[in-house]
Amino acid sequence: MKFFIDTANLDQIRQANELGILDGVTTNPSLMAKEGIKGVAAIRQHYKDICNIVDGDVSAEVLSCDFESMIKEGEELAALDEKIVVKVPCTKDGIRAVKYFTDNGIRTNCTLIFSVGQALLAAKAGATYVSPFVGRLDDISSDGVALVAQIVDVFRTYGYETQVLAASIRSTQHIIQCLEVGADVATCPLNPILGLLNHPLTDRGLETFMKDAAKMNQ
Ligand code: G3P
Repeated sequence: MKFFIDTANLDQIRQANELGILDGVTTNPSLMAKEGIKGVAAIRQHYKDICNIVDGDVSAEVLSCDFESMIKEGEELAALDEKIVVKVPCTKDGIRAVKYFTDNGIRTNCTLIFSVGQALLAAKAGATYVSPFVGRLDDISSDGVALVAQIVDVFRTYGYETQVLAASIRSTQHIIQCLEVGADVATCPLNPILGLLNHPLTDRGLETFMKDAAKMNQ
């Protein structure tokens, strides 16, 4: 399973990248706004900065909702760097845009996926990735991981090459559950990624090893 970090924060992207396990980055308008990025020039520069840090796919989301504007924006984003994957919402115009980008050699991440039907349309349009939102489904007493599992099953049954990118991941448990149901990618904030390291037996074992190492160094 590939690991993407879900943030527009350059420091956190660097930290995850330094671990040597990072396969890419996803952003969205909320994450970009959180970093205080304003205006076209600043947005483009920020995506270039992200691409300069990470060796992998970088999802950059369009800010418009109508087909023509999404195409214009997506083409401009894709021209910034070959790592850019254009992120498009799963709407009628969004699916048309995914198909247009696919036909023109631009990779896409179809986002805001909350049902198998939406994922199916995105796959048929040729999306590189679909992003089911796990945490947001859990937030409304639905089962986000079950949706990931359903989409993985359908794509494998019918041979779609679209990768299932589990998004809106909130915990290490979400990451493990998505791994178990066969998600191709999990995109997560830094904390759940670092949380995978935590185990009290590792801490206790290391403490003992370090005490014994000190004895040998005397
Ligand atoms: O990639 C989508 C993701 O950022 C949404 O996460 O936590 O806002 O539901 P969240």
